[in-house]
Amino acid sequence: MSSETEVKGCAGCGRSAKWQQDFPIEWDGDHYVTRREMVKFLTLGSLLLASANWITVVASKLLHPGSKAERYIGMDSDLDRNGSILFRYPTEQDPCIAIRTLEGKIVAYSQVCTHLSCAVVYDRSEGGLFCPCHHGLFNLQGQPVAGPPTRPLPRITVQQRGDQLYATGME
Ligand code: FES
Repeated sequence: MSSETEVKGCAGCGRSAKWQQDFPIEWDGDHYVTRREMVKFLTLGSLLLASANWITVVASKLLHPGSKAERYIGMDSDLDRNGSILFRYPTEQDPCIAIRTLEGKIVAYSQVCTHLSCAVVYDRSEGGLFCPCHHGLFNLQGQPVAGPPTRPLPRITVQQRGDQLYATGME
């Protein structure tokens, strides 16, 4: 230890302070160690963050194994022309709505308004999906046609098997 940096721990006995004995690093060496430690810290930190991301992805796949799988949503006979049914897809926390149009076609969308996430409902008189929060309106193609929403509703693909309807994906 250089005499410039040495701080006397005990003026009477001439011994160095306890912290100097525990960390016997000179000031020049201290900067070097700090830089090296910083590189180690950043490298390890990056590895930990990357690992945490992968763990999150794997955990979400394990916890929600069927999140993108198909899901039964109801009977075809329950869905009248110009009527609607509600269901959840891809998880129980995701409300959706399926509508049979006047022409008999089935369309389905997320029920979450793309403005501020209120639930849209089928408005027979308007022939579209109405959001009561700020009077937003989406047509049956899921496109916003009135009010503040500017983005379309996420579309749910529906497959019919016999009399049963299944949600099979989200676009
Ligand atoms: S939340 Fe739907 S219009 Fe605002």
